[in-house]
Parts: sequence; C-alpha cells; structure tokens
Amino acid sequence: MKIALGSDHGGFVLKEEIKGHLLAKGYEVEDFGCYSLDSVDYNEAAISVSEGVASGLFNRGILVCGTGIGMSIMANKVKGIRAALVHDLFTAKATREHNDTNVLTMGGRVIGGGLALDIVDTWLETEFSNAERHLRRITKINNY
Ligand code: RB5
Repeated sequence: MKIALGSDHGGFVLKEEIKGHLLAKGYEVEDFGCYSLDSVDYNEAAISVSEGVASGLFNRGILVCGTGIGMSIMANKVKGIRAALVHDLFTAKATREHNDTNVLTMGGRVIGGGLALDIVDTWLETEFSNAERHLRRITKINNY
C-alpha cells in the first residue's frame, strides 16, 4: 500500500512519528512536507497529498496539522477525497467501514503519539463494508 503523508508545523512532530511507524511496518511512504517546525500554511501539503490520492498514485493519505481541522477542510475540497478528522479508535474504524475514507487527518496538538499510531493502524487495516446503504450515500457525495 502506498501512503502519502503531509503536515504543517503544528503536525510536524506527529507526522514524523507516523512516517517512522509506517516505514517500520513496510508501507511505501512519500512525505510531502513540511520538513521542519518552521511555520507554514497547511494548504499546500493537504492539496499535494489529496491530489496524489485522488489521481490514484497513492492508496491513502494521512495529514496532520495542529488540530487536524484545516487539513480536513482543505482535503475535502479535492474531488474524489473523503477525508475524516479522527481522534479515537471507534471513529477510525467506523469511517473506513461506513465512509470509505481515503484521507485521515489528525491534530498533533490534540492527541499523543501512542493513540495516533493505533488510529493509523486501525484506519489502514479496516476495510470498507461495501454495504448498499453506505455505497448509496457515498455515491451521493461523489455526485454532488
Ligand atoms: C497552526 O497554528 C494551526 O492553525 C494549524 O496547524 C491547524 O490547527 C489549522 O487547522
């Protein structure tokens, strides 16, 4: 599985931790920045990661900013992206089963690395349910 990663300064530390975790697990990872704690807008990384996923170059994207909110709003502007802001394990599982989300966003100032890595694992390993009602709702999102 190929995963695109991105952050702003508020998510940089957690993004680096997630990158190390994914590489250790054997995932193919591309890091679209940022690359330091210097202040940057979240928009560019969100767009690069989201366009990479929407185009099919990457299977999934993970974006981290201070709260996860800016990344989530920006990613969901990209056609074909269903991004979910997740800070708990129940939602990590449910958003894969129900929404078939292809981008995960989190807040580096909201949760610690331990929970964040469990969320990443749960989100990556949970399959979409393929239930008719969920497909119907996703189709309505896609058609809007
Ligand atoms: C940066 O200070 C912060 O606003 C950003 O990381 C993010 O939380 C925005 O949604």
